[in-house]
Amino acid sequence: MKKNLLTGAHAAREYVHFFRDPIGCMRELQQKYGSLVALGPIAFGEPTKLHVLAIGPEFNRQVLGDPAKFRTTGQFIHGPNNSAQRRIRFGLTRMNGPQHKQQRQLILPPFHKKAVAGYHDLTVELAKEAIGQWKPGARDVYADMRAVTLRIASAVLFGHEATDAYRIGHLLEIWARRNFSGPVWFFPVNIPGTPYHRLLKHAELVEQEILRLIEKRRRDSSDRTDVLSILIQARDDENRGMTDMELVGQATILFGASFETTASTLTWTMFLLAQHPTIMRELMDELDRVLGGDAPTREQLPRLSFLDRVIKESMRILPPVPFTIRAADEDQIPMGSLTLSHGARVICSHFLTHHLAEIYSEPERFRPDRWREVDPTQYEYMPFSAGPRACVGAMFAIQVLKISLAIMLQKFRFEVVRGAQIDRVVRITMNPRYGMPMVLHENDRRYESSKVRGQIHEMVNLPD
Ligand code: HEM
Repeated sequence: MKKNLLTGAHAAREYVHFFRDPIGCMRELQQKYGSLVALGPIAFGEPTKLHVLAIGPEFNRQVLGDPAKFRTTGQFIHGPNNSAQRRIRFGLTRMNGPQHKQQRQLILPPFHKKAVAGYHDLTVELAKEAIGQWKPGARDVYADMRAVTLRIASAVLFGHEATDAYRIGHLLEIWARRNFSGPVWFFPVNIPGTPYHRLLKHAELVEQEILRLIEKRRRDSSDRTDVLSILIQARDDENRGMTDMELVGQATILFGASFETTASTLTWTMFLLAQHPTIMRELMDELDRVLGGDAPTREQLPRLSFLDRVIKESMRILPPVPFTIRAADEDQIPMGSLTLSHGARVICSHFLTHHLAEIYSEPERFRPDRWREVDPTQYEYMPFSAGPRACVGAMFAIQVLKISLAIMLQKFRFEVVRGAQIDRVVRITMNPRYGMPMVLHENDRRYESSKVRGQIHEMVNLPD
């Protein structure tokens, strides 16, 4: 038995650890066994395949750069055959091969540079509206960020003026959350009253609502700029459009991929800034100089270079998607000292890659100005993943992040509640387990960090 292949009770223990705290588990495995560790199948039930943790840019390139050998398996609960659950989760992140290529080609245009610039004014309007409702005092800023991104994602994806857009966004938020509840995973029994049954019923509702909206948009699609309307009109090289079921799957996945990730990035960035007063002051100087209290215009956004470095560094040190799983699609794939058989799962970690000291000196330090010095490859820095399946919404996400942060930071001073417990929880995205308790003050510029407790200290060196 190879030293880096764990089996039996040892493997079972690591699977449990991974389920509870994937980042803690991956870090421990890396420290004990190095950059390649395999967990064997366990005797009863899942998981039945070898699971390999492969850390670093070379493995990232091998796995993420070669979708023909490593396919995706999707993140949401499968659901029974012919169920709405199965249909609505079947979007781009679940597709492979020619189907993925064809659908990705159809999805890309509304996320190209020019189209993204077209969402600027709407994003400013919605961010101002949501943030305008905040009052000074103690708040859960993670809940606030979710509310902001829910508004923006619903409007851009499904249409601004329509109340059904926001309702669908809200239903999808509930659906995504239910996919990650423990009882749904461990007791997938479809009888009335069980959480699994509730998930399946909810998926039916989501499907009906999106189908209704598609029908409405098909009847009147004139001059509409929401992503769904653009996708309804889209045609590939052979003049094929999307079927209604494809549209439902893509709408669901686009929402799922955009809303939580952006909320998580906003929350962690706000936390890091609040805990680094010197960096916060430097950022405020830039915002004052370029924006003078207003929301950024399209032309001003590229001039916010320090904000750009802050976001880059925040997504390096606390990447919202901390790992990605792929399945080997061939037999006999060599990987370091291992040979993978068909179906073996490989975990590539964005988080561990971003914390490799050979790429980023003092990796646990939040230091936006490192981005003046480093120029990593796409497999060394991959908050939006890398290779042919990299995030389609990266440019749009960055625009939302810049606009929202510029508005929030000019209006309020954010202070983390003293003594707060800041732990992580991963449900595809990494979020603060108990929310992000902060106090909002009128912006008097008296920035001060707060002592906090919890797992955050394993990930970031916070100044005293
Ligand atoms: C800060 C925000 C975001 C982050 C950190 C992020 C991150 C990622 C990552 C890591 C992946 C690869 C997942 C994997 O391979 O398993 C991905 C894929 C994807 N993202 Fe994003 N994303 C963000 C925002 C968005 C937005 C706003 C949209 C669209 C509205 C979007 C749409 C997608 C889609 C459709 C894919 C699948 C691409 C494919 O499989 O070809 N994402 N994203």
